[in-house]
Amino acid sequence: MANQPKLENGAVVIFGVTGDLTRRKLIPAIYELILAKRIPSSLCIIGFARREWDDEYLRGVFFDSIKDAGYKINIDDFNKMFVNIKYIKSNFDDDQGFSDLVKFLSDKKIKNILYYLATPPDAYDIIIKNLGKAGLNKSDDGWTRIVIEKPYGRDLDSAKSLETLVHNVFSENQVYRIDHYLGKETVQNILVLRFANGIFEPLWNRQYVDHVQITVAETVGVGTRAGYYESTGVVRDMFQNHMMQLLALTAMEAPVAFSADCVRDEKVKVLRSLRPFEKNDTIPNTYRAQYAGGFIKNERVKGYKDEDGVDPKSVTETYLAARVFIDNWRWSGVPFFLRSGKRLPKRMTEIAVQFKQVPLPLFNWQNMAGDAPNVLVLRLQPDEGVTLTFGAKLPGPVNEITPVEMEFDYESSFDQKTPEAYVRLIQDALYGDATLFTRSDEVITQWSFTDKLIDSWKSDKNKYLPVYEAGTWGPIGADQFIQDKNRKWRNPE
Ligand code: BG6
Repeated sequence: MANQPKLENGAVVIFGVTGDLTRRKLIPAIYELILAKRIPSSLCIIGFARREWDDEYLRGVFFDSIKDAGYKINIDDFNKMFVNIKYIKSNFDDDQGFSDLVKFLSDKKIKNILYYLATPPDAYDIIIKNLGKAGLNKSDDGWTRIVIEKPYGRDLDSAKSLETLVHNVFSENQVYRIDHYLGKETVQNILVLRFANGIFEPLWNRQYVDHVQITVAETVGVGTRAGYYESTGVVRDMFQNHMMQLLALTAMEAPVAFSADCVRDEKVKVLRSLRPFEKNDTIPNTYRAQYAGGFIKNERVKGYKDEDGVDPKSVTETYLAARVFIDNWRWSGVPFFLRSGKRLPKRMTEIAVQFKQVPLPLFNWQNMAGDAPNVLVLRLQPDEGVTLTFGAKLPGPVNEITPVEMEFDYESSFDQKTPEAYVRLIQDALYGDATLFTRSDEVITQWSFTDKLIDSWKSDKNKYLPVYEAGTWGPIGADQFIQDKNRKWRNPE
């Protein structure tokens, strides 16, 4: 983590300050950072949006969202912590709003500015152009940076156009593309576990690993986001970004240093080594499905097609499993199974490294319950920790071997709550450390891979989208998908 830089005369300008992301994530994160004295309370926070709000109203929203996030705060403390909150009411295409912003920043003698695009993506274009036009992309004796939320484009072409637009106004070292999974404590721990310990890395390759399973399972459905999700599906919503980042961190080589460019160089190398989905490979190596009605924690939930705003004939996938290969020296021949879905029975994000089976005859292992016992599971959320499963002799007169577990649990080991991803990400953007943000070539490589996948689905004339009952681990086809060589999904009870 970078040392705390000077942030006096600093400002964060949030475009789309009236939206849900600001309320749920950004404000509580800024609060935590001020509370921990990682950023000064003199930092100016400027909201820029279309609604008829004013400074006082925005202050009220800040206060409420901090309380809604579960913090106990009274108004006096709040007033001491948030000294400079300003609201600029403007359309994003209105020059006046940007002139007001210029004037405010100059009146306040602001030198260091972080712009945060928390708007729907269709507003990125005009905001970035207007920042450039108003000369707000540079600061004479300070810095300016821009944080851009996902989705970063909706396919390769649109991501490239966005890149061109962004680079017309900002240079790459000013751009901080968010993938909030990278801000998660446990995701950062993937590299620490792998490279700060001597015992895992020697086994972390095709000689010892049978396959890797990366699961991002959610119990939530599409909620109120049908408008966005209908044209996105799980492939754009989760696979192109979060899943591919988890894959890259699991499979990358050790970086030369823990710096933004060294880490990202290695991630890009892995992403470039992914075997592309050519037409005939896609169908056998992917499995898509959509949730139907069912029960989540004993509560009846709607099917996807019945959700508000969803086309009753929708063929948008809410579940995706993919088998991908990394064609490099370390991973040649090792399948990585990636799956993500909504309305699955359990919220669970994990990376499971399944090691190869040892020869069985030695112990007459037919008594063994289950499969090869050695699995290293990185539990990323919600029960954060690491589990190593190995075989042990069941006490008794017969040779019965049973899998047992060694556990590391964040909560009991560290006795503190795992910080929210946005706390770390906003801090790093303010400190100028881009390690946990995706670089231009990275996002483009992720899209090149995903685009091929989407394209070959398009050319599949027999599109048939199986459904799964909400609250189950997907249709039977999803189990068959992984089944060759006796592999199976790790589906907890
Ligand atoms: C977002 C997706 O990026 O990540 C959502 O748009 C998804 O659809 C969310 O629910 C999952 O994030 P988390 O942090 O809850 O695992």
